[in-house]
Order: sequence, then structure tokens, then C-alpha cells
Amino acid sequence: MYHLSPSMLCANPLEIGAAITEWNQLKIDWFHIDVMDGKFVPNFAMGTDCFREMCKAGKHPFYVHMMAENPEKYIPLYAEMGASYYCFHYETTNNPFRICQAILENGMKPAIALNPITPVEAIKDLLPYLDVVTLMAIEPGFSGQEFLQHTYNKISCLKEMIRDFPVLIEVDGGADDSIAARCIRCGCDVVVGGYFSVFRSNNTLKENYETFMTTVKEI
Ligand code: DX5
Ligand code: ZN
Repeated sequence: MYHLSPSMLCANPLEIGAAITEWNQLKIDWFHIDVMDGKFVPNFAMGTDCFREMCKAGKHPFYVHMMAENPEKYIPLYAEMGASYYCFHYETTNNPFRICQAILENGMKPAIALNPITPVEAIKDLLPYLDVVTLMAIEPGFSGQEFLQHTYNKISCLKEMIRDFPVLIEVDGGADDSIAARCIRCGCDVVVGGYFSVFRSNNTLKENYETFMTTVKEI
């Protein structure tokens, strides 16, 4: 693991192609792609045309963080465009087992995201069907929000819960480099890099990347 997934929502939308090319040269676990429907969250992000082009250009796997109601509706579409992981929100469905099955049948890896208020115990019985759990450290909808401190405890609890299952833990939102390092120490595998880390302005992406890697290796 490289412990890093850049959130492409934080890239300058006018330079997204150049950013993908740069990330292709660096070691990351996957691209984190935020999709927002204006209903589950009060914002819109990353429509299908944008996603399709990113998939053509990107050399790393694509992880779709689907912040949308009725996430089952979009599974075939994102599979066809080239997503490797399809992450739906626990809060959007009463049928998570059926959704995991549909994701698998469409050739992608199932993942689930939990809002900050949702306890990790809620997905205990779903663990055998998941590849990744994304713990939200902010309420979803916007980048640049403050990291919620109770997330560290949730990571440790989830790490304890997954024991024998080959499930990865991703933490999304508000993480600077030292928060990322502390998350990894608690058992997190992949941190979403955004506004406070790899997409910080004033430095080049490469400089930010190197600082991130040095900081998380010092743990
Ligand atoms: C917000 C998204 C995050 C966000 C990460 O709803 O899920 O992926 O863009 O950006 P930061 O790290 O700035 O919170
Ligand atoms: Zn996200």
C-alpha cells in the first residue's frame, strides 16, 4: 500500500488532464473520484463525461465515491466507463447486500462509505462482501472542511472488527499530512489526499506528494 488516494475534486478543473498525467508518474493506491447528485449532498460533482475522459487518461485504478441517492442505478454505467471500485453510502440504501452483489456482477470491487454519525458496527455483517470501507471524517459534500476527531477511534474499532477479512480502510476528508500519519497509525490503509495535503496551493504537486510520503513514513 502507498496509503494515498488523491481526490480529483481538489484538482483545478481547468487542469485536470495535466493533473492526471502527473499522478500517473507517482505511486498511489487509486484515484478517488467524488460523484455528487445534489440530493444526498448539497453539491454536484464529476459527471459522466468528465469521468469517462479521466478513465481514458489515468493509469491507476479508479475509486468512485458515489454520494448519490439510489446508488444502484449507476452501477452498470460506471462499470462500463472503467471504474475499478464502486463505493456507495450506507445511508442511501436498505439493500446493501444486493448492491454489493450488483457491483461484483458488473466486474467492480464493492466498497461502502459511512458518514461521520454512522457507527462502524452498522456494517459488521456486510464485511465479507466488501473490499474497502471509507470512513468519512467530514460530512460529505465539500472539500476543505475540518477533520472530525472521533474518526481516529472509529478507525481503531473498525480495524478490530475486520480482523480476518481482507478489507481495506480508507479515510476521507480534512486530512493534512500529520492527520494522515495518525490515521495510518490507527489502522487506516489509504488516506484521501485533498485540500490540506497533496493539493495544497503554493507548492507543486510533486513537492506535496513527497512531503506526504515522508510524513507518513515517519510513523
Ligand atoms: C467530500 C469528498 C472528499 C473531499 C476530500 O465530500 O468526499 O473526497 O474532496 O477533500 P478534503 O481532504 O479537502 O476534505
Ligand atoms: Zn470522497
